[in-house]
Amino acid sequence: MDRFQIQGGQALRGTVRISGAKNAALPILCAGLLTDEPLVLHNVPPLRDVSTMRRLLEGMGMTCHRHAQSSDGQETLTLQANNVSRLEAPYEMVKTMRASVLVLGPLLARFGEALVSLPGGCAIGQRPVDQHIKGLTAMGAQIEIDHGYIKARAGRLKGARISTDMVTVTGTENLMMAACLADGVTVIENAACEPEIIDLATMLQSMGAQIQGLGTDRLTIHGVDRLHGAHHTIMPDRIEAGTFLCALMATGGELLAQGARADQMGATLDKLREAGLDWQESEEGIFARADGRPRSVNARTAPYPGFATDMQAQIMAVNTIAQGTGLVAETIFENRFMHVQEMRRLGAQIEIDGHTAVVKGVGRLTGARVMATDLRASAGLVIAGLVAEGTTDIDRIYHLDRGYDRMEEKLVGLGAHVTRMSS
Ligand code: UD1
Repeated sequence: MDRFQIQGGQALRGTVRISGAKNAALPILCAGLLTDEPLVLHNVPPLRDVSTMRRLLEGMGMTCHRHAQSSDGQETLTLQANNVSRLEAPYEMVKTMRASVLVLGPLLARFGEALVSLPGGCAIGQRPVDQHIKGLTAMGAQIEIDHGYIKARAGRLKGARISTDMVTVTGTENLMMAACLADGVTVIENAACEPEIIDLATMLQSMGAQIQGLGTDRLTIHGVDRLHGAHHTIMPDRIEAGTFLCALMATGGELLAQGARADQMGATLDKLREAGLDWQESEEGIFARADGRPRSVNARTAPYPGFATDMQAQIMAVNTIAQGTGLVAETIFENRFMHVQEMRRLGAQIEIDGHTAVVKGVGRLTGARVMATDLRASAGLVIAGLVAEGTTDIDRIYHLDRGYDRMEEKLVGLGAHVTRMSS
């Protein structure tokens, strides 16, 4: 199992190219199931979750042709679902990646049938998919849960008015994809507004889908009889960009997050400015400079455009060495503070009070051996390791590889001392 060894204390300087967004790529790959024509996707990040999704889709009979990588490592994929025979997402795949549930809506809409393993709980919480099921049932699907599997059948889905009980990102995506091929009009109320949903919807529109209300919490979809092939370029990963900017805030220095878009990162950039980051957007991306110790900030996670739960561990890492005390409240997932005990090993002073972490900034962290527990917790630990004095070893870095493209290479390119060790 690989680990990162970090010699902390280097300021970050240089340019880092931001990869395509994981959370846009995953639903977009699944949208390939909605047509028998080729879908050409550019700027696909070479991540473990993306290859897991490809394997899942190939297992169904979709062809995924990988073109040569571009000089910055991003891939172009051509998908074609003209020979799909196995309408199933088995447990072995879903347990390694919950986003596998995104095949449910497309399979049901195009083939009238799907068998998808229930994802079950995961490290950061229970994460049920009841809203996906509720919405598809409202569209006329017959769904039963049997031996841990969602068994779904439908004739042609019917447009419906759906109001989800909470804001759900993949739930909105699943229902939106299903509605594109339904008979009649579907209205999704309380829809998630994340930029990745807009990216997916934009691609669906270029496949011929009729979707209105992009970027709002009310999506209206006029179903069409069929969708056609398209070309699409995946948006930049706003969480990756935010992670590098948090790292910069903690270590000091200056960097260009090439390709990052400020309009998709409002809450993160506002917090970082409050913490003392000086940033500007240009045509190339976001240029940022950090000088001296950050100021502590309070952050409360919320659906977009609120502060992203996927940035919570990283902003906490900034607070650990900031001046003053910052409160970090997690409102989306019930168990997303597992990085706290690992950050304490580096000397961070953090108390948990219910869903809030009270982070008292300390003058310095010191290196230690810590363990990554989930994707974003790992990113928070990397930031803490970059600023800690001495050596930090982060075990179980495979979590990080699910969602960050060659993070250690990118950090080394910015002057950090990070080595991947295989044991
Ligand atoms: C997506 C993102 C993930 C991010 C999360 C919240 C992808 C592939 N993953 O995950 O990186 O952390 O959004 O921004 O895009 N819920 C239910 N029932 C449902 C669906 C959700 O109770 O049917 C709850 C969840 O348990 C959670 C909350 O709603 O507490 C939000 O979850 P959701 O937005 O669905 O997260 P994901 O789409 O799984």
